[in-house]
Amino acid sequence: MGKFGAIYFPSDIKESIDDIIGNETKKEILDDFFKALKKYDEFTSQLKDTNLNPNLTILLYGPPGTGKTSLTRGYAKKYNIPICVVETDRLVSPLLGDTIKQIRRVVDLAAEIARERKSFILFFDEIDAIGSERSNIHEVGEIKRAVISFLQVIDRINYEGIPLAIIGATNHQNQLDSAIWRRFTFHLRFDFPDYRLRKKIIESFLKKLKNANIGVDNSIFNKLDEEYEEIQSISKALSKKLGYVISEFENNLLWNEYSKKFKKEGLIKLTYGYSGSDIERGTRVALLKAINTSILTYDLFYDSMLLVGGTAIHVERQDILSAKKEVRNFSATKNTQPSPPEI
Ligand SMILES: Nc1ncnc2c1ncn2[C@@H]1O[C@H](COP(=O)(O)OP(=O)(O)O)[C@@H](O)[C@H]1O
Ligand SMILES: [Mg+2]
Repeated sequence: MGKFGAIYFPSDIKESIDDIIGNETKKEILDDFFKALKKYDEFTSQLKDTNLNPNLTILLYGPPGTGKTSLTRGYAKKYNIPICVVETDRLVSPLLGDTIKQIRRVVDLAAEIARERKSFILFFDEIDAIGSERSNIHEVGEIKRAVISFLQVIDRINYEGIPLAIIGATNHQNQLDSAIWRRFTFHLRFDFPDYRLRKKIIESFLKKLKNANIGVDNSIFNKLDEEYEEIQSISKALSKKLGYVISEFENNLLWNEYSKKFKKEGLIKLTYGYSGSDIERGTRVALLKAINTSILTYDLFYDSMLLVGGTAIHVERQDILSAKKEVRNFSATKNTQPSPPEI
């Protein structure tokens, strides 16, 4: 199975679900899901009389770096269940019939492990590689056959009552074959963190540095609090004026108002359109810089975040991009902070 991905035993997994900040509703659903897998026999015997299919399948979708893989591995650790993370594009072959054979092989192996170990997780990362135009299968008929074969193996797992959870993840939900989409019981959407969550994520990484005895200037925390209060006040005033709670991702209102009033760009605003993973990368860059200065200052941290840039630039989120550009153009003329790169 190593040919297609990696198997992790719970003791090998470093992540904890607490490392992924926020996402509370999704965590509740995932918790129920993994509890059902853990008590699979009880769960299926209860379902038996209802004629309902156990179907322990979840599709996680949304931009890269938003915690899909980490959170799943975190749950595997929490519930002490081994997990195989399959790089789905490695199953896909341009040779006629090969993709189908590989899909069956992986699922058969996983089913065998699941029977032996009483529970197992099969995680298809980038599942859109099966049956999307992005896949490197060139013949349309072959794409369809691969999708059908995938659906058949999922059905078989459910029918045979194998304690195997099948989880799919994709950053390209629009390209995922709709038949695959429908076959999953749960669909959990991951998204770029909003300003509230970004503050928490930034703080959590800074605290990790502090816990590792790396010097962190405490004024970073104060400045974050201050910026957060400012954003909150603008957000509240706007909501009151408009009569609904505004989201920073829906339009430019929040950041335009903020720029008008505060004429600066702090960390929370800078990281608009950043994923949790981008913030992690920025923290790592900051750490490298801090080695020389022995203390991580606000400016150093800010410059590191600026340097790594946000994922929204690379994925098809024109809404975030155009809003960000407008805000940037506005603030570039007014503020004294270093100008962000052109996007
Ligand atoms: N909500 C979050 N809180 C804290 N860290 C996050 C969050 N989302 C993503 N990350 C960071 O980004 C890393 C990569 O996330 P990952 O699970 O690989 O994303 P995905 O599978 O969605 O592409 C995680 O290990 C974590 O360090
Ligand atoms: Mg992933």
